[in-house]
Amino acid sequence: MCGIVAYIGGQEAYPIILKGLKRLEYRGYDSAGIALIDETSLNLYKRAGKVSVLEDFVKTCNSRGSIGIGHTRWATHGEPNDVNAHPHFSGDQKMAIIHNGIIENYDTIKEELLSRGHTFHSDTDTEVLIHLIEDIQKSEKVDLVEAVRIALNSVHGAYAIVVISKDNPNRLIAARKSSPLVVGIGKDEFFLASDATPIVEYTKEVVYLDDEEIAIVERGEDLKIIDISKKEITPYVQELELHLEALEKGGYEHFMLKEIHEQPRSIYDCFRGRLNASEGMVNLGGITDYETKMKNANRIIMVACGTSWHACLVGEYLFEDLARIPVEVEYASEFRYRNPIINEGDIVIAISQSGETADTLAALELAKKKGATILGICNVVGSSISRITDAGSYTHAGPEIGVASTKAFTAQVTVLTLMALRIAKRKGTLPESKYRSLLNELESIPEKVKKVLDQNEKIQFISEVYKDAENALYLGRGITFPVALEGALKLKEISYIHAEGYPAAEMKHGPIALIDENMPVFVIATKGTSYEKVVSNIQEVKARKGKIIAIVTEGDTQVKEMADHFIEIPDTNENLVPLLATIPLQLLSYHVAVMRGCNVDQPRNLAKSVTVE
Ligand code: M6R
Repeated sequence: MCGIVAYIGGQEAYPIILKGLKRLEYRGYDSAGIALIDETSLNLYKRAGKVSVLEDFVKTCNSRGSIGIGHTRWATHGEPNDVNAHPHFSGDQKMAIIHNGIIENYDTIKEELLSRGHTFHSDTDTEVLIHLIEDIQKSEKVDLVEAVRIALNSVHGAYAIVVISKDNPNRLIAARKSSPLVVGIGKDEFFLASDATPIVEYTKEVVYLDDEEIAIVERGEDLKIIDISKKEITPYVQELELHLEALEKGGYEHFMLKEIHEQPRSIYDCFRGRLNASEGMVNLGGITDYETKMKNANRIIMVACGTSWHACLVGEYLFEDLARIPVEVEYASEFRYRNPIINEGDIVIAISQSGETADTLAALELAKKKGATILGICNVVGSSISRITDAGSYTHAGPEIGVASTKAFTAQVTVLTLMALRIAKRKGTLPESKYRSLLNELESIPEKVKKVLDQNEKIQFISEVYKDAENALYLGRGITFPVALEGALKLKEISYIHAEGYPAAEMKHGPIALIDENMPVFVIATKGTSYEKVVSNIQEVKARKGKIIAIVTEGDTQVKEMADHFIEIPDTNENLVPLLATIPLQLLSYHVAVMRGCNVDQPRNLAKSVTVE
């Protein structure tokens, strides 16, 4: 987590960095800081709290300078206060550093540096790193780039760093390992950032640094990259496809609401050019070379975290039902520490919106080491997961800025549906008529999502009724069980109401004890193989005075009569129900959170991409 941004060029650095920090605030908002060189002074300002707190503070300070670095923090080492905020000074205050990641062996390095007379002011691993660089520079009498290189060779862990030194106000030094860093190349200016969002309005030319690479950006010079063993690397310049409008709220009160409403478009963008129902065509160009391997796989292992893990659970149903390939779904964080059994012929698919989630990346690296074919489904183009995988498919949902994942989830499910259909077609596991009808149905999903969104007012009314609940249960069966999990996660992460998702039939093995007149129970009771069973589960809740809020298929009569409230979604193939049933639950969580006065886009303690273990 944490967002870093830096600028060197002919413009004033502060406004560029400040705007960049606001764009990156989704990565952490515990504190923010900035360091700028104005002629001969290195001015450093930092404050606990959001970027706006820093902005207020800097109003009375000298914010001039055409070179600077900035940071927005999600605390790991040390509480989120002014002192632990980044940037951190070197001992002689001539240099400052910003850092995203964790230096795992900082304790040992710190002890060594303490014994050599260094004094530390913060509890952070980052301050240790800048002192180490300073120590090396002075003791080994090397220039700053070399000191950074030597220091990085002795640290373990993850880093994306930028170092600024008042001894050289014409140069920034940046490096990365397991935390993202992008260099934007403008005309006589450079931008550095955790992702391309702070860069896109100034230049479309970017270079994504690879692990253990060091970038030296210097006024009047071309970008220079070396790796930490000193080898020169030729920068690979890419053109950004990102558009500025996608980073703005576009009239919505929150990014989350905007992203919920974008789903007809994001689902369409996800299958555009990949699906043609009238021709019976599904094609995911990114995985073409791996289709035979997938078709012949003994099993597929899907790894992910959070919402992306819920998408994997939907993927499990789809691949097993349509392509008849056994699927195991794993929390990336558990998988990586379990000495998992991976056989030749296994395929591991990682799903991640950001493509930077540390546990998911580590799980993939482990699977790769053990000989599996590794594939990725990511939203962020050029992200770490998309680059280490053998192949994969982007979700093309556009930037997702709200911390709560919404359109990324439906796009992930769309890609999984396309993949499962493609492999099923290749394997011949699906009757042509069912295949064709699924293709037709998938094409009609964006229109059906619009119909669900049209019920916003009704969902807002229901939210008002349950906004003061202390607990909530979410129930689903079969392919809607992951939807129940996702509904519960959305509610708890943005409104801080305790919520649990359960397979409906499991309720009687424990959770039913919680049911009383104060317990709202959200049930996905759509038409399909388990409908009658879910009706029985609803009756069990009603018999104990629980309140039922049901998601039903248009035209339903039975559940509507039993439910306290219901939300209708258009009829569709059972395999595609998650794409529709998730949406009212997203809206409901959103409205409840707003009514409770919560910060919807930046819920407490969370960050958008979790780049630490
Ligand atoms: O970027 P990823 O998809 O790898 O992120 C995984 C989770 O951190 C993420 O889905 C998280 O659970 C969201 N806050 C859920 O809304």
